[in-house]
Amino acid sequence: MPKPLIAANWKMNKTIEETGDFISSFFSMVKDAADVDILIAPPFTSLSVASRLLKGTDIELGAQNVFYEEKGAFTGEVSPAMLLSVNCSHVIIGHSERRQYFSETDEIVNKKIKTARKNNLNVILCIGESLKEREDNKTFEVLEKQLSGSLKDVQMEGIDIAYEPIWAIGTGKTATPGQANEAHKFIRGWLRKNREGAEGVRILYGGSVTPENIESLMAEPEVNGALVGGASLKPDSFAKIVKGAKGRI
Ligand code: PGA
Repeated sequence: MPKPLIAANWKMNKTIEETGDFISSFFSMVKDAADVDILIAPPFTSLSVASRLLKGTDIELGAQNVFYEEKGAFTGEVSPAMLLSVNCSHVIIGHSERRQYFSETDEIVNKKIKTARKNNLNVILCIGESLKEREDNKTFEVLEKQLSGSLKDVQMEGIDIAYEPIWAIGTGKTATPGQANEAHKFIRGWLRKNREGAEGVRILYGGSVTPENIESLMAEPEVNGALVGGASLKPDSFAKIVKGAKGRI
């Protein structure tokens, strides 16, 4: 298993100036965190400045989305080559907010993953159930459908998965470490059964991760990192999360 991955998903937050301010103070706080992979996914407009400021550090840069075509008349979209040109190593695909507000289906997610991998971008694939689906005992059914649809004809090299229960995103209602581990175990089991290289896939937890709960989440055997939204917007809070995850493989 590779090192744990702690990833910041800034969503639609931070101007270029705010990105610069964050990175200058954050870097000095985490420069000794060699046993954790750290990734920041700012909005598209901040990628260029982030790339310049992160150069020479171990902190990786990711985008929050990518289009599945390589180029052409797709107003408003961003291609894998464009992300590579600002030194992105990763892209988040299939976030529940993209599925909910921008009608992304598993089929679209699948096309995006294929184009990203063809261009050697590493992928963080997001999956997770709604509150209603959990209450109806459909969590595993939903995860299975998202996994088989999003990963159709895809090999796992260069892909990590973020389990993000929708009811826990931005709500302050974190899944308990046990709930997270149970879902991760199911995902690992599906990967073992259906894909080669299942053991090399990191399964991150996302949904109201904070400096206070990171250690208990990371103490679970199947939690290999975190995708952090709200608590990644302040350098000291995100640095505490990185430190809380330290040492866990
Ligand atoms: P949150 O978001 O940490 O603010 O809940 C996580 C995510 O959506 O990736």
